[in-house]
Amino acid sequence: MKAIRIEQFGGPEVMHVREVEVPEPKAGEVLVKNVFVGINPVDYKIREGQYPEVKQDKLPLTLGREVAGVVDKVGQGVSDFKPGDRVFAMIGADGGYAEYSRVPAEHLARVPEGLDWPSAAGVPLAGHTSWQALVEHGQIEQGQKVLIHGGTGGVGHFAVQFAKVKGAEVYATASTDSLPFLRELGVDRAIDYKTERFEDICKDFDLVIDLIGGDTQARSWQVLGEGGRLVSTLTMPDAHHPQAAGKTGTRFTADPRGEELTEIAGLIAAGNVQVYVAKTFKLEEAKQALDFLANGHVHGKVVLHVSD
Ligand SMILES: NC(=O)c1ccc[n+]([C@@H]2O[C@H](COP(=O)([O-])OP(=O)(O)OC[C@H]3O[C@@H](n4cnc5c(N)ncnc54)[C@H](OP(=O)(O)O)[C@@H]3O)[C@@H](O)[C@H]2O)c1
Repeated sequence: MKAIRIEQFGGPEVMHVREVEVPEPKAGEVLVKNVFVGINPVDYKIREGQYPEVKQDKLPLTLGREVAGVVDKVGQGVSDFKPGDRVFAMIGADGGYAEYSRVPAEHLARVPEGLDWPSAAGVPLAGHTSWQALVEHGQIEQGQKVLIHGGTGGVGHFAVQFAKVKGAEVYATASTDSLPFLRELGVDRAIDYKTERFEDICKDFDLVIDLIGGDTQARSWQVLGEGGRLVSTLTMPDAHHPQAAGKTGTRFTADPRGEELTEIAGLIAAGNVQVYVAKTFKLEEAKQALDFLANGHVHGKVVLHVSD
């Protein structure tokens, strides 16, 4: 099968289309014939050697961490899925940009009826991340005030919609040209991070979801009220910051979970959450796709077409 492999860390030049063996599913695993696969910032961070969990000893590897396709084969002990099922999943740090991927059955969910393949491929990693940020780490509750930094990207566009589904009042930041998209997602207030200071607008918030880090994260403490939470996908918030007293901060890494993805799929099937795909590329164009994502201002997700 074809796979996009890296044999060393570096820029786009280290990505190669290689012919490799179709993997065999082990006990508890499913072999998925991919139709579309999603791409994420973590893919270029892995490629560049900037992702702490992937060091030299993990190379060579196939990039890509989320897939959507049809069950081809099931490993020993798998009874929940059968060949022909339409499925999607977030996967570990190896194996997504390929014609077939091995996936633990417990990480898989069924693609909802009516959801097209490009959209399905864009859901798992960003969906889990935004859900776990809001629900597990943010402990979001109805009526709370939530600020989401980077509300238009892969994770952010789900976070805005999930927070609305949970009954929160949602403010989110984006660049000037992206404000109409933020409004389309349903935010109560779209904040232009180029011309406005979010800390002048948000006071006594319950939760901040930080998808940006750095100075944006440090300035976020001051928008939280007593007991407020700062949840980051990037770096651990500084608990010794002068404005952190009486508030909590955490940084987390998203986990794949089939049951959670099924719950997210239900929200999509019910029409409560939309998946936005900014652009699709062919599998062989993975380099260009990652450049497109890394250059920013993507609304929603970028995905790769693997097979019909
Ligand atoms: N810890 C984990 O498990 C985990 C999981 C998923 C993602 N992540 C990380 O979380 C981050 C977001 O992921 P993603 O997939 O959503 O990335 P993405 O699709 O590239 O989106 C990033 C968004 O950030 C916005 N942005 C850039 N600078 C900003 C600023 N100063 N203030 C507010 N918004 C700004 C951009 O919007 P504009 O066009 O408006 O500039 C862009 O749409 C990435 O760094 C990723 O690696 C971590």
